Amino acid sequence: MKNILITGGAGFIGSHVVRLFVQNYPQYHIYNLDVLTYAGNLKNLTDIESASNYTFIKADINDGDLMEEIMVKHAIDGVIHLAAESHVDRSISDPMAFVRTNIIGTVNLLNAARKAWGADMSDKRFYHVSTDEVYGSLDNGGFFTETTSYDPQSPYSASKAGSDHFVRAYHNTYKLPVVISNCSNNYGPNQFPEKLIPLTINNILNNKPLPVYGKGENVRDWLYVVDHARAIDQVFHQGVFGETYNIGGFNEWKNIDIVQLICDIMDKKLGKAEGSSRQLITFVTDRAGHDLRYAIDAQKIMKDLGWQPSLQFEEGIDKTIDWYLANKTWMEEVTSGSYQEYYSQHYS
Ligand code: NAD
Ligand code: TYD
Repeated sequence: MKNILITGGAGFIGSHVVRLFVQNYPQYHIYNLDVLTYAGNLKNLTDIESASNYTFIKADINDGDLMEEIMVKHAIDGVIHLAAESHVDRSISDPMAFVRTNIIGTVNLLNAARKAWGADMSDKRFYHVSTDEVYGSLDNGGFFTETTSYDPQSPYSASKAGSDHFVRAYHNTYKLPVVISNCSNNYGPNQFPEKLIPLTINNILNNKPLPVYGKGENVRDWLYVVDHARAIDQVFHQGVFGETYNIGGFNEWKNIDIVQLICDIMDKKLGKAEGSSRQLITFVTDRAGHDLRYAIDAQKIMKDLGWQPSLQFEEGIDKTIDWYLANKTWMEEVTSGSYQEYYSQHYS
């Protein structure tokens, strides 16, 4: 039996990782550690919450002593660290929250692992899940590879870059057995509707304007969340210590094209007149320092670990829209309360 600590497991990507590990590895005990910020939701995990190899721990990674206590008490062998503040727009209005959780919280976990594991770390591993945004912004050519220099442009990406540097430094200095992956934009079920795709779906459902920043020309490289969870499984088990793996589906879209695609699919699914949702598209003031383009070269993980995305985007976006249509209560619950306040402040 191995004991695996997954941080941020009640969030969007974390909940898919927790489910995959609980279901695929009955020989592991999965501890899901999450403080349940606005983005954490235990309803993402109701299908596996009573599994005998699953335990939820409500705790804050900003509490370093508590992290060490938890690592020791549960004899943790492996950490998959996803807990983070994850939204660029929020990082622009409150950067300190990102410094605390993303940098200090990560260093707390690194220290806890070092202390709990002592000198013999032969069967241990610390996996840090990061983003392609650490590489900065591309113009219209080229891709981010694992050797691209870090050039973060937003407080979010700067905080993730800082955490990546600390993880590498603990490998270099203390021989902590670490592995890092940097993934492109995820989409799929359970994503909090502050992010572009679920926000667009929710606003179409509520007949509200669809805010597109600037001219909608910015490009993102989208990967279905379950394919990211599958990649995390492979990197955790087969990744070489000290190495970085870029994860992405070679699937670039301009924001305006994605919003229009969602409009057209939803018009069909909702029986609305062709073109009616597109009329909701509203161009709004651009995000400060808005990165133009992200694009991942994922050849290393494909060649070295044999990972491939399983879904084409057209299939993935269709499944995603179906999930939100079938889970309107989930959306209503997460958009009540503080989300309304955030939304009216941000989009006023
Ligand atoms: P999310 O915002 O949906 O979830 C984050 C989770 O972390 C939430 O459950 C939240 O409650 C928890 N959390 C936040 N602060 C915490 C703290 N101090 N202590 C304990 N738990 C805390 O984020 P996500 O989109 O699922 O992203 C997960 C990870 O993957 C992040 O590290 C993010 O940087 C990275 N990532 C995300 C994307 C993406 O497109 N969403 C792409 C690449 C990498
Ligand atoms: P987002 O989902 O916030 O992810 P990230 O900023 O991490 O890439 O945004 C994706 C893209 O969509 C990004 O270029 C910003 C843009 N965007 C809008 O045009 N309107 C919106 O309301 C949001 C939330 C994002």
